[in-house]
Amino acid sequence: MIYFNNAATSYPKPPNVKLAVNDYFNHYPVGQNRNQLGGEDLILNIRKRIAKFLGIKNCNNLFFTSGATEGLNLLIAGLNVEEGDHLVTTENEHNSVLRPLYRLIETKKIKLDIVATNEYGIINVSDIIKYVNSETKAVIVNHVSNVTGFTLDIEQLALQIKQKSKAIIIVDGSQSVGYLPIDLSRMNAIDAFAFSGHKSLWALEGIGAVYISESLINSDQNKIAPLIAPLKVGGTGVKSESLKQPTELPIYYESGTQNIIGIISLAAGVDFITSIGLEKINQRVSVLSDYLVDKLQAMPEIISPSFEIEIKNSIISFNILNHDPSEVAFILSNSFDIIVREGLHCAPLISKRLGFFPKGSIRVGLSYFNTEGEIDFFIDSIKKIISSKC
Ligand SMILES: Cc1ncc(COP(=O)(O)O)c(C=O)c1O
Repeated sequence: MIYFNNAATSYPKPPNVKLAVNDYFNHYPVGQNRNQLGGEDLILNIRKRIAKFLGIKNCNNLFFTSGATEGLNLLIAGLNVEEGDHLVTTENEHNSVLRPLYRLIETKKIKLDIVATNEYGIINVSDIIKYVNSETKAVIVNHVSNVTGFTLDIEQLALQIKQKSKAIIIVDGSQSVGYLPIDLSRMNAIDAFAFSGHKSLWALEGIGAVYISESLINSDQNKIAPLIAPLKVGGTGVKSESLKQPTELPIYYESGTQNIIGIISLAAGVDFITSIGLEKINQRVSVLSDYLVDKLQAMPEIISPSFEIEIKNSIISFNILNHDPSEVAFILSNSFDIIVREGLHCAPLISKRLGFFPKGSIRVGLSYFNTEGEIDFFIDSIKKIISSKC
């Protein structure tokens, strides 16, 4: 089987991730603040490793979630907003941003500006800045589009927003982390960064994390009061005598028994990236991506906004003239054993902007483990579909 659906969930997982997950069954269960594993808590150790990988100075500012969807819901639903407050987002967003924002329109009657991209899905920092004013409460943006692969300069955006307003800047890093270098201590104008584990970080499904900067924590006389309300409250394994949620980080946001096996897989995924080198992974995927794009571009029947995106990365979406994307994906899977993703990719606004609505597009999500040979076979299969020889 050829697996080109890595932008949804990466497969295969690196050998060390499989080993770490299997090894979990050989030990007694551990849990944050519930068991000790020879001194330092296992979760604390992993939190430190992941924080280091992302340039986060204080690992307590990083907390685990079930994925980017939970992280973004937490950040958006937890905003302290009221009727009439102004928020900004873009057409490049995934439904895990758009739907929580739409819910805020319904429940809190906020005002939302959605910044349009151009016809290729490209959006400039200045396009977004135009919508930000001194009244803006939050700006929520996707780092790398899961439809076009377009990469927004989030560092520059955050810096420029801070010059104009006190808005909270929330970034969806689901498609960038593990693929692009992220140093959150350098990108210190970014207030919150949510991401998935099961994509470029090679973890199992059902794990992700959120980073919040010190700007979202009100530490007054050692009394910690995070500014974003938690999505859930409950058991934290400490301060059980209190009926109020303890405000210390990270437990403020981590009630309930954690997805320990997911967290272990995330650590192993990060170890894999570190052992190979992020730059090397990025370079390899870029080589594969260029190889695929060159071949697709040479075919007049292929329509793709990704051809216009200068910074190529692992995501390439396209359509074949006069072909239904769901039929193409079905044939690729059933006749050629190639797995791609088709449809709107949970990103309806950008799909509309690109003319991929309502049927969507075919998306190839490449990984470090794909090969040129697989791409050759894929291109041959597409050619056969076009000439209807299958
Ligand atoms: C850009 C983007 N944001 C958010 C998500 C949701 O991630 P998760 O599956 O971790 O909830 C995805 C996953 O498809 C995504 O591509």
